[in-house]
Amino acid sequence: MAEKKKIILTGDRPTGRLHLGHFVGSLRSRVEIQNKQDYDEMYIMIADAQALTDNADNPEKIRENIIEVALDYLSVGLDPKKVTMFIQSQVSALTELTFFYSNLVTVSRLQRNPTVKNEIKLRNFEANIPVGFFTYPISQAADITAFKANIVPVGEDQLPMIEQTREIVRSFNRTYSEVLVEPEAVLPSVKAALRLPGIDGNAKMSKSLGNGIYLADSKEEVKRKIMSMYTDPNHIHVEDPGNVKNNPVFTYLEAFATEEHFQKYLPEYPNLEKLKDHYSQGGLGDMKVKKFLLNVIEDVLAPIRERRAYYEARIDEVYEILKQGSEKATQAANKTLKEVKDAMKINYFEDKELMNKHKENAHVR
Ligand code: TRP
Repeated sequence: MAEKKKIILTGDRPTGRLHLGHFVGSLRSRVEIQNKQDYDEMYIMIADAQALTDNADNPEKIRENIIEVALDYLSVGLDPKKVTMFIQSQVSALTELTFFYSNLVTVSRLQRNPTVKNEIKLRNFEANIPVGFFTYPISQAADITAFKANIVPVGEDQLPMIEQTREIVRSFNRTYSEVLVEPEAVLPSVKAALRLPGIDGNAKMSKSLGNGIYLADSKEEVKRKIMSMYTDPNHIHVEDPGNVKNNPVFTYLEAFATEEHFQKYLPEYPNLEKLKDHYSQGGLGDMKVKKFLLNVIEDVLAPIRERRAYYEARIDEVYEILKQGSEKATQAANKTLKEVKDAMKINYFEDKELMNKHKENAHVR
């Protein structure tokens, strides 16, 4: 038997530029996977249709951010020769699949989806949830299954979506026939990267909280943000013992700093453990740690900024990448849609059996 193909799909809502939280949570591992070349197909989707489910009155915001997200993808090093980047709304099979899968999902199951629950609360949607928003997990199942993706690299908040997708796959395959593939989520391996806090110490880096460091931020902006970062509020004097827990400066170092960074910028310490020890005992000032963090983050962001400038000067090329990617994605998704319709027996014009049955019945009558 042929070895199982490795098909990867993941995506982002184009509601704003991508930040360091996206980078450690997912973009970084996408680039690693890409560079290992250990896959058959990799699809990266700009989820504009999903973004519209809670932005119906603001399509302009979504429109403008499609190209921003594409620039972020290209600038972190995703290579259009190796991965297929596409725009969700341009692949109409995804919408059809969503409609058919809807029949396999109950309202109460959707109500139990913890991510949707949380998002409804955050948006104060309780009394007036748009149906499209409420059912976006079904559309996400379509995104994943249309490409028969078996690997979905995502952040922790997306686990309920993958679980719901797996249920839809099992239900479809049981009800009709074995067409769809159950995906697995792949989370970042570094714990600090599961949820990067904001520079203000809030548990989550997010656009709406205005506490993020963006991939497109200038060197000056990054410096300003890091130097103003929240740390341990009780660590007032250098000699005071400091707390490294719930201290975003240290969480960022966990997510980004390598031993090479220590050798390069802070050779007095062999690794993060030793730096933490010193901070906890007292005698290590915030400024010194922040300066180190700035060097580490700049090592990450400088090449990203350079690639961004390259593609910003070639916007036509970026559009062409998305157009060709969307065409390729359309072909793949159409193939699955055909199989889905065959399995559901809604391929009437090719169904000789159905036609013959009616002919025979006509005779009997
Ligand atoms: N829900 C994801 C997010 O908010 C975006 C997304 C849409 C996605 N479809 C997907 C992620 C399919 C992985 C697979 O970031």
